[in-house]
Amino acid sequence: MISTFLSGMSNLRYHLNERIRNVGGHIGLGIRPSNRGKRLGNTLMKLTIEKAIEHGIREINIHCHKHNEPSTRMIKANGGSLESEILYGGEVVQRYVVIAP
Ligand SMILES: CC(C)(COP(=O)(O)OP(=O)(O)OC[C@H]1O[C@@H](n2cnc3c(N)ncnc32)[C@H](O)[C@@H]1OP(=O)(O)O)[C@@H](O)C(=O)NCCC(=O)NCCS
Repeated sequence: MISTFLSGMSNLRYHLNERIRNVGGHIGLGIRPSNRGKRLGNTLMKLTIEKAIEHGIREINIHCHKHNEPSTRMIKANGGSLESEILYGGEVVQRYVVIAP
């Protein structure tokens, strides 16, 4: 877990079971609403991807809802490539992958 002075928090899941391989992925993160739009999400995602790579994860799966533009932009800004989309719980979930260099 990485936190940016309690303005946000990320979770890194080292192993994917079948359920989170389907929807969830390796990384989940959130920024406190009053601190959104200040590039903290981009920074926290970058730090969490670096941690994942340190832990030997070569293909980092990151998922988000298609309609969540801040999230899709944050993932793309950090090298995420769209792999697939699925319908889950009535919403389109996009599955991105970041390949370790
Ligand atoms: C998604 C989230 C983490 C983004 O954090 P943030 O600190 O506000 O984002 P940033 O300021 O770093 O901006 C990230 C990108 O989103 C864009 N963005 C920020 N706010 C936006 C808005 N309201 N509408 C559209 N785009 C927006 C930024 O321009 C940036 O894109 P760019 O690099 O192409 O310019 C934050 O909105 C959040 O906590 N949402 C709720 C939880 C969530 O959805 N988590 C994601 C699951 S992986």
